[in-house]
Amino acid sequence: MSDETLMTKPSPAFTASAHIDRAGYDEMYARSVSDPVGFWGEMGKTLDWITPYTQVKNTTFDFGRVDIQWYSDGVLNVSANCIDRHLPKRSLQTAIIFEPDDPETPAQHITYKELSDKVNRFANVLLSQGVMRGDRVVIYLPMIPEAAYAMLACARIGAIHSIVFAGFSPDALANRINDSGAKVVITADHAPRGGRSTPLKSNTDAALLHCSDKVRCLVVKHTGEQTSWVQGRDVDVKYLMEHASPECPPRPMNAEDPLFVLYTSGSTGKPKGVVHTSGGYLTYAALTHKYVFDYHDGDVFWCTADVGWVTGHSYIIYGPLANGATTVMFEGVPTYPDAGRFWQVCEKHKVNQFYTAPTALRALMAHGNAPVEKYDLSSIKVLGTVGEPINPEAWNWYNDVVGKGKAPIVDTWWQTETGGHLLAPLPGAVATKPGSATLPFFGVQPVILDATSGEEITTTEAEGVLCLKDSWPGQMRTVWGDHERFQETYFQQYKGYYFSGDGCRRDADGYYWITGRVDDVINVSGHRMGTAEVESALVAHAAVAEAAVVGYPHEIKGQGIYAYVTLMNDQEPSDALKKELEVWVRTEIGPIAKPDFIQWAPGLPKTRSGKIMRRILRKIAENDTGSMGDISTLADPSVVEDLIGNSIYAV
Ligand code: WTA
Repeated sequence: MSDETLMTKPSPAFTASAHIDRAGYDEMYARSVSDPVGFWGEMGKTLDWITPYTQVKNTTFDFGRVDIQWYSDGVLNVSANCIDRHLPKRSLQTAIIFEPDDPETPAQHITYKELSDKVNRFANVLLSQGVMRGDRVVIYLPMIPEAAYAMLACARIGAIHSIVFAGFSPDALANRINDSGAKVVITADHAPRGGRSTPLKSNTDAALLHCSDKVRCLVVKHTGEQTSWVQGRDVDVKYLMEHASPECPPRPMNAEDPLFVLYTSGSTGKPKGVVHTSGGYLTYAALTHKYVFDYHDGDVFWCTADVGWVTGHSYIIYGPLANGATTVMFEGVPTYPDAGRFWQVCEKHKVNQFYTAPTALRALMAHGNAPVEKYDLSSIKVLGTVGEPINPEAWNWYNDVVGKGKAPIVDTWWQTETGGHLLAPLPGAVATKPGSATLPFFGVQPVILDATSGEEITTTEAEGVLCLKDSWPGQMRTVWGDHERFQETYFQQYKGYYFSGDGCRRDADGYYWITGRVDDVINVSGHRMGTAEVESALVAHAAVAEAAVVGYPHEIKGQGIYAYVTLMNDQEPSDALKKELEVWVRTEIGPIAKPDFIQWAPGLPKTRSGKIMRRILRKIAENDTGSMGDISTLADPSVVEDLIGNSIYAV
């Protein structure tokens, strides 16, 4: 049955000025899948090519010979597409608004002309340090303009950047420098964030103890605080930039030359270096940015992610700048100096499209509506979310309190591996439902397979694992240095498909609902259940700020449901409240979803990017705490002790 009543339709006024309406989406989507070569051949032309391509799509998902190439004989330069081609029209337009951590420090408005100057100088600095085409450059920087300059400077000379999130430890940094074989690491003295400061340079010093002594260290003196200095290895980037030439011709690059490597963790093994290339990636990042956010010339776009994650690559830097946009780079955190910071920045820079993660929304929701209502958010046209399933509670809060019911919400499902959005509503075209990433972007062919048989489920209503039937230009090409692993991870389990690792449901309207990673699916008395579903129910209770649910061995049911619950600041834990939550979940989903055990969790184990580390929660729930694995990437490793001390086995 279709649940039209749940839908929020685009307003006629919004649609009237949008790039595309529903008929337009249907038409373009149909063409994109019936004639991918024709469609992407045309879309690729939105970029400037030094040598136009004659080949559009050469891709195969066949296990054993997976090979993905787009625009393979085209030649272009990514930085020229993000900068030079805009100069005739936009040299005085702001390319980047830099909003510092401290709200008292003035924002910087960097024009396209200034961006060009800085990137050219930075590129010349890299060349002077011996960086050549194809060399890897690790970037370990705070969210400062130099991070953007460094990325684009690499692209300009054909070097491959690999950004390591500034929250990562020296060990993690060393592993990435070594795996990528980087010649150079670019860092800063310190990274101020949320009023605190991370000593990036000393972290880098510690990392470099485990790397080849040939690795050069380029230091951005950002805060100006004293750091150690290794003569002959360390280089002052700003000083060299001042003395470098502001002209560095963009190097002609093949469309399939790697643009960047970005490390991401899978369910097993060490982090994989996800490789993205130039022509297809940029085409896809730019096109999704334009359509999914309904971005128009002159808009101010703000993605709150860090450039250390793929979201920052595609939607702070490459997508927006390829489109000649004004993009906001924010150094801080949502709750510093208070829970109104996001909204204060939206008002200050008259942000038109705002893009953030559900986890941030839930954290802010716990502070109530007042910090939002203090600011004028009338500039906001579109609100986006990414990174995890958004629970309807948070969706509604975002819609009602932040968007005042006027800004369409685009829930975007994608992955580091996919380069850009795969599922998302185009805001002028597709009606939304809270919690659904809705429909595929152009050229994306999602299929739902039965997890066990691997058979494609062709009925509209379906539930299973989410795979992609054919390639799209933004798709990762390989795992750095390990094509075998690329094939095994994504193409072995379900032959002929790209396997996303996510579970998914398709409803009667053909809308897609991500149910979470399939490794998080639990089986209770023979019923498969998305842990995200139970979490969503728990979080819908007024007393609950956050919840994480995992399976644990249960004598009778096979697996039982183990819920870690963080209460709202003003709530007291009690047995009565536990009972109330059990009943609540029973009524929200059904008796099979009732948690078997609820543990109060003052804090959940999260990575510094805010993702809950379920592996740890599962181990605790399985009483398998002896083999916890690496917990060094946690934002606060001490929460683990507390959770173990209060687990079902300790009670
Ligand atoms: C999850 C982030 C539900 C999903 C861009 C995916 C989502 C993983 C959504 C990729 C969404 C991302 N709804 N789940 N809108 N977006 N995910 O590589 O499980 O950091 O596989 O890329 O996040 O995370 P990654």
